[in-house]
Amino acid sequence: MSTSCTPTAGGRSESPAGTPSLPGEGVRRIVPVQLAERSYDILIGCGLLDDPASWAGLPAAASALIVSNTTVAPLYAERLERALAGRHRRVLHLALPDGEAYKTAAVLETVYDRLLGEACDRKTVLYALGGGVVGDMTGFAAACYMRGVPFVQVPTTLLAQVDSSVGGKTAINHPLGKNMIGAFYQPVRVVCDLDTLDTLPDRELSAGLAEVIKYGPIADAAFLDWIEAHLDALRARDKAALAHAVQRSCEIKAQVVGCDERESGLRAILNFGHTFGHAIEAGLGYGEWLHGEAVGCGMVMAADLSARLGLVPAAFVDRMRRLCERAGLPVRAPALGTPRWLALMGLDKKAEGGEIRFVVIDRLGSARTQAVPEALLRQVIAAHGGEA
Ligand code: NAD
Ligand code: GLY
Repeated sequence: MSTSCTPTAGGRSESPAGTPSLPGEGVRRIVPVQLAERSYDILIGCGLLDDPASWAGLPAAASALIVSNTTVAPLYAERLERALAGRHRRVLHLALPDGEAYKTAAVLETVYDRLLGEACDRKTVLYALGGGVVGDMTGFAAACYMRGVPFVQVPTTLLAQVDSSVGGKTAINHPLGKNMIGAFYQPVRVVCDLDTLDTLPDRELSAGLAEVIKYGPIADAAFLDWIEAHLDALRARDKAALAHAVQRSCEIKAQVVGCDERESGLRAILNFGHTFGHAIEAGLGYGEWLHGEAVGCGMVMAADLSARLGLVPAAFVDRMRRLCERAGLPVRAPALGTPRWLALMGLDKKAEGGEIRFVVIDRLGSARTQAVPEALLRQVIAAHGGEA
């Protein structure tokens, strides 16, 4: 399977492609996600949290619940509430504890406790204000509460703006596996206010850049060139550069998800670098490396795997390594030992019928999944420092 449903530009914007901007709104862009009756828009721009027009057209409901966390709520929850004034008769707040460790059934319960305790009905709109953890949990809560209420993604990390808020994967973790309890459930809108990235720690910004970089090799070689040319601007949080990076990433993700919402094939290419990355996260213990950091190193390893399969030149591996290093990402694999690496990757969700399938680059800008001989994996693990 490769990208026969090729991702193409799809946004409305004042982007380099020259498509129109929203009236009078600087770097604002709209990327549609086309999923029949589950279609929605991704709004990208500055100042959206303070602009009530960003929230126009959302379902009318008496009640809304802003779900955030203890870090993000003090920064942005009041502004979101002000922008929503007049849309809902009452706007409730819930700040979850911050961190992947709290992406659990027990913490999810507190969302239901709040909704039921406040007698929220089945029209209540949930607003997920935060990074991927808050987005995944709020989305899953919305999917389950009274068998489904509308939810809006308001992502405040780069990773969430370019990846996790789009496409409807929602989940919590189980002690036996990350994101193992979840649902496909699409938001009714995604609102990416680029200004929220101003307060994001540098390390988190770098982690988000890993997911931006990912879209180049899997879908758009020209975008990879663009990222290389604009990486310093992105790390300096230049808004025009961020707007383009978020827009192009969302366009590609929207196109892939539009072709394969439930990951029966093509959508798996979005997991480029993730099989190695998940092994790093699980092997070191979740939280030691950020998800995006593990994906960055994993992409270098997956690029190497693609090269060893003869699909791309060896120079591509160096290119990915240099780019990830420049993005502030670790590129040397942790020395977990080969047997542990193999076991950890075998437990990955992509392991089907005892065969581990990897996302590989079959030419720059195109990816597919394929089964890989164990001997080749051993070579890749050794070449990147993964042996004990
Ligand atoms: P995160 O949600 O933990 O956020 C990272 C940190 O940044 C947190 O401490 C958070 O409180 C803080 N933060 C968020 N926004 C901030 C801001 N504007 N200013 C200051 N601090 C801010 O991590 P993440 O990287 O956003 O998301 C990772 C999660 O996303 C993982 O649970 C992963 O499984 C999930 N994910 C889901 C998908 C999907 O398709 N649903 C895709 C990729 C990742
Ligand atoms: N982040 C991978 C996906 O949404 O499918």
